[in-house]
Amino acid sequence: MVTDAVPMVRAQSVSRRADNGRGPGLQILRQCSLGIPAGGLTAIVGPSGAGKTSLLYCLSGLDRPDEGRVIVDGTDVYGLGRERRARFLRTRVGFVFQQYNLIPYLTVAENVLLPEELAGRRVPRDAVDRLLARFGLADKRSTPASALSGGEQQRVALCRAMLLHPAVVFADEPTGALDTANSRMVLGVLRDLAGSGTTVVVVTHDVDAASLADRVVFMRDGAITGVSGPMKGAAILAAMRTPGAAATTGGGPSW
Ligand SMILES: Nc1ncnc2c1ncn2[C@@H]1O[C@H](COP(=O)(O)OP(=O)(O)OP(=O)(O)O)[C@@H](O)[C@H]1O
Ligand SMILES: [Mg+2]
Repeated sequence: MVTDAVPMVRAQSVSRRADNGRGPGLQILRQCSLGIPAGGLTAIVGPSGAGKTSLLYCLSGLDRPDEGRVIVDGTDVYGLGRERRARFLRTRVGFVFQQYNLIPYLTVAENVLLPEELAGRRVPRDAVDRLLARFGLADKRSTPASALSGGEQQRVALCRAMLLHPAVVFADEPTGALDTANSRMVLGVLRDLAGSGTTVVVVTHDVDAASLADRVVFMRDGAITGVSGPMKGAAILAAMRTPGAAATTGGGPSW
């Protein structure tokens, strides 16, 4: 279900500079304002270096912007103290990193259970097995993460992000390392998740992935250049090539 009423994730004039240790560095994000409604799949697209990962980090509470505010599920995340922010994010937000960030010497199941450990919250004993089965990883339960392929690591990272049923799942290039069959599986799960009310925000280079989204956010040179409702792959590609071509409509409110 997609509703435009109350944004689940809201960015207000978010700007970020790279910190090069010698004063203000390169401007990575420029006055990014965006409202992402509760539920549904949002894709953030744009050329390499456009600032997609940087925006996702700011939206998900992982990286404090230099200017602007980020509100997730009604909470001004950078208005919280460090501890409270960490607690809020552990339970409300799931994140899948572009580089997976699994602990190599822990098994698949141990990696998936990390959020439970960190949040001090118990999940049903069969929750991990059900998640692993959903991602075709049932036989990898006891395998160390260091022995997995890139695609398998990506799927484990998704299981970990979903374990505590967060309100929002952010994923950076969730299909970037996957072959076609694995990509379809992961996109199917993310679509289901979005369809069942979780707010899913993915950064992607993959126009097939973006064409499954309920809204598409276009970025270039650190700025949001457009927000659109669902688009076909060819139209997304054309809009990426022509900055400003994507209408800022149908994608929820902007600020
Ligand atoms: N800590 C940093 N220090 C210096 N420059 C940075 C830093 N983080 C990001 N950048 C620069 O900011 C720009 C945006 O980076 P970002 O990783 O957000 O891009 P992206 O759109 O995710 O690219 P890709 O599609 O290649 O993953 C790039 O030019 C990058 O080199
Ligand atoms: Mg990136």
